[in-house]
Amino acid sequence: MSATGTAATAAAAPVLDLKGIGKQFGAIRALHGVDLTIRPGEVVGLMGDNGAGKSTLVRIIAGNFPPSQGTIHFDGREVHFHRPMDSRSVGIEVVYQDLALANNLTAAANVFLGRELKRNFGPLVLLDHKGMEARALELFRELRSETRPHDLVKDMSGGQRQAVAIARTRLSNAKLVMMDEPTAAISVRQVEQVLSLIHRLKEQGIAVILISHRMPDIFAVCDRVVVMRRGEKKADKPVADTSPEEVTALITGAKEAA
Ligand SMILES: Nc1ncnc2c1ncn2[C@@H]1O[C@H](COP(=O)(O)OP(=O)(O)O)[C@@H](O)[C@H]1O
Ligand SMILES: [Mg+2]
Repeated sequence: MSATGTAATAAAAPVLDLKGIGKQFGAIRALHGVDLTIRPGEVVGLMGDNGAGKSTLVRIIAGNFPPSQGTIHFDGREVHFHRPMDSRSVGIEVVYQDLALANNLTAAANVFLGRELKRNFGPLVLLDHKGMEARALELFRELRSETRPHDLVKDMSGGQRQAVAIARTRLSNAKLVMMDEPTAAISVRQVEQVLSLIHRLKEQGIAVILISHRMPDIFAVCDRVVVMRRGEKKADKPVADTSPEEVTALITGAKEAA
């Protein structure tokens, strides 16, 4: 990233600001005292061994369950999410492995999955297929993709799948996209698609949290790396100021952050 880009990012108000986040599951302390600030267009890699608390943190931000302690500010306001719809409604999206597309549905259906346009028809509520196809076509044109709303995802190329995933985040006006190990079990080619998707989200000023064990991916796309260990944040560094070796040492506990 250019020096100007870094300065611009540092000046912007945080999109997400976590303070003192803790989570207990019965006797298990999954998270303790986690602070995390992310600005628009920042890509933050979240790393840590199994059980470090990464997924729990993402689930709290996504509204799957509330934290036991701490506060969440989103876009400058304190938020209390009770269900995933609450976080989606303010602009938080979770992209799952394989870009989370439903293979047997059309491109348009995938873009609107979970937020289908509806139309009242007397006492009936019908899906507005025409409206969804028209809007999906607009989004694909904006992305300069040749994807057609009727195309089935299973017949699509990697680039077209990516366009569908990006169109979803555009439609929702996402401000923060979280990816929990999106590249854990996919081919090298698909990994490249995911990394390229992250670059495009960043270009649009969307903040990204990427959970990954893949050090090269983290160093290829992230501005910062956050290391978790046993539920605590152990390090939070610009990738330019660290190395894969140091991050590995922080993950295992061989090294404590300065
Ligand atoms: N729903 C749950 N109920 C009980 N314990 C949980 C639950 N979710 C996570 N944990 C525990 O919280 C800790 C952190 O888990 P998790 O956030 O999944 O770690 P990571 O994603 O870094 O591997 C682990 O000890 C895990 O067993
Ligand atoms: Mg996990």
